[in-house]
Parts: sequence; structure tokens; C-alpha cells
Amino acid sequence: MSKSLPQRVRIVDVGPRDGLQNEKQLVSADTKVELIRRLGAAGMKSIEVTSFVSPKWVPQMGDNAEVLCRVLAAPAAGVDYPVLTPNLKGFEAALAAGAKEVAVFGAASESFSQKNINCSIAESLARFRPVTEAAQAAGVKVRGYVSCVVGCPYEGAVAPEKVADVAETLISMGCYEVSLGDTIGSGNPVTVQRMLEAVARRVPVAQLAGHYHDTYGMAVANIVASMQMGVAVFDASVGGLGGCPYAAGASGNVATEDVVWLLKGMGIDTGIDFEAVVDIAAWISAELGRSPASRVARAVLAKRAQSAP
Ligand code: HMG
Ligand code: MG
Repeated sequence: MSKSLPQRVRIVDVGPRDGLQNEKQLVSADTKVELIRRLGAAGMKSIEVTSFVSPKWVPQMGDNAEVLCRVLAAPAAGVDYPVLTPNLKGFEAALAAGAKEVAVFGAASESFSQKNINCSIAESLARFRPVTEAAQAAGVKVRGYVSCVVGCPYEGAVAPEKVADVAETLISMGCYEVSLGDTIGSGNPVTVQRMLEAVARRVPVAQLAGHYHDTYGMAVANIVASMQMGVAVFDASVGGLGGCPYAAGASGNVATEDVVWLLKGMGIDTGIDFEAVVDIAAWISAELGRSPASRVARAVLAKRAQSAP
């Protein structure tokens, strides 16, 4: 285990995609574009905008092309705007809308792969290959995801070697980074480190990111455990929005404000304006008709209300 923690961490805000994809009520394109604009203004350097998946499967992402085009018409300086693309059809639509970065998403569990993208792990990797080739030809960056890196909602515990197999294949296809998804938030520091040890034997740690859902409140502990292993990129969702439509009971990603609070307190630089992220969490939660889910946002907002004249 590495004893020195990273001095700087990159956060990928996946709220507009992972956060909103599970919302029952359709969120307007205006709100999505405004959310992304606010995140960029708060200093977020990577914002996952939408997914080019079937609108029959995920209706909430049916406005993908409109949202991406509008975001790219007024981009914030130095910000990457990745989008999910499960296959060549999705990639071509994303490219037509102007995408400069896409993400393919596989799983370490066969049952989850079937439920999520309607094919086996091997079939999914065969679908991703033409995506990575087309992306390379078009000068588009590709990120990879592996879901169910610790546990699967259908199969239970997942073997770390299975995660390493998929992660290594994604890197060999040309993904610049693989984001390791604890889709149902069942990991703890011990199981997450065990998984990372297996993956790090096959993929350089500098190419790994942690994507931890916070179902059982373990995500922040898992981030610290991952930083102890040298991981310095984490996905998060402002306001703790979200969940996966194909993982029953899975709650949102770790809240961005929780991660920024944690890192700020530990003296680790993110380049993100903490107070602005809390404002965004309050705003998007109000747009969705609820209070912010994260403890950090609730604590900061309560303190602000107390000290207001
Ligand atoms: P399929 O039905 O197997 O695909 O779906 P198909 O190739 O047989 O095509 C069937 C129909 O879908 C056809 O249309 C295609 O044109 C259309 P029809 O002829 O019936 O009118 N189609 C598409 N339409 C739009 N965009 C596309 C596309 N591809 C085919 N790209 C598919 C396969 C992958 C499309 C489907 O299963 C799907 O869309 N699944 C949604 C998956 C999803 O979005 N899941 C949530 C995101 S993953 C996640 O949250 C986990 C993550 O956060 C990490 C973690 O937490 O672990 C990333
Ligand atoms: Mg996720």
C-alpha cells in the first residue's frame, strides 16, 4: 500500500448522466444544460454530459444530441465533456453531435452485463472494439468503465481477477483510463483495496479511476482507501444524485460536495470551488423537488441559514 496520498485529485462529475438517468420525471434539456454550465463555472474539468443509449431503455437520456450540442456550443475553457456510447450506433450519434470524448461501459459480472446492455461480457468487448477504432480514427478520446467491481446485484461478490480481465482489455483497446464502478456501493476499504491490488497488477494505477456509489455510506472511505493505493481520479455526482436503472436498490454516486469537502480537509487540491458546488447541489435538488441528499450539503446549508442575518 502506498503511504503518500496524491497531492492533486481529478474529479469527474457524472451527475448529468449517472445522476439524472434514473430520475422518473423527465428533466428538461434546459435544466441539464444549466447544470453542466454551473459545474464548469465551479471549476469541474470533466463533466459526463449524457449517454447515447437506446431511448427505449433510458428515456431520460433521449435528448442526448440536443444537450451535447448545446453544451459544446458554449463550452467552459479546458473542460472535457465525455458521453457514454455502448456501441457503434451510439458512437456515430455522439460524433455527429460533436463529442470529443466518449466512454464505453462493460461489467465484471455476466448477469449485470446482460441486464444493462443486453449482451455477455465477451460480446460487449467485441462491440467496444469498433468504437475504440472509430474513435481513434476521429481523434476522440475513450474512457472505459467496469461495473460491479466488488459486488453484483444478481450474483453477489465479484472476483477481483474478473475486474482485472475487463479493465486490462479496455486499456489494450485504447481506453486512456478505466473507471472502476462499485455500482451497488457494496464495497468497503478492504474489498476495494483487494480489487485494486488485482487490477493494478495488470493496469498502471495512473490509468485507474474510482466510481463509487454511496448506497451504504462507504464511498468516502473507499476513496481514501483507493488514494492509499495511488488512485487520483474519482467520479462523483453533485447532490449525490442518481443510481443505475439496471441495479435495483443502487443509490446515487458519492456526492461531489462530500468528495471536495474530504479532499479540501485533507489538503488535497481539486481546483473546484467548494461553496459553488454546494450551491449547485441545492439548486439541482430544488429543481428535482427535494432537499440535497448529502450530509455535507445539508450541514453547510444549515450553517449558512443559521448565520444569515
Ligand atoms: P439492444 O436492444 O440489444 O440493441 O440494446 P440492438 O442492437 O439489438 O438494437 C435494438 C434497437 O435499439 C434498435 O432500434 C436499434 O437501432 C436501437 P429498433 O430497430 O428496435 O427501433 N439502438 C440504439 N438506439 C439509440 N442509441 C444506441 C442504440 N443501439 C441500438 N446506441 C443497448 C443494446 C446497449 C442499446 C441497450 O441495452 C441500451 O441502450 N442499454 C442502456 C444501458 C444504460 O444506459 N445503462 C445505464 C448506464 S451504465 C451505468 O450506469 C453504470 C456506470 O455508471 C458505472 C457503474 O456505476 O458501475 C457507467
Ligand atoms: Mg454509476
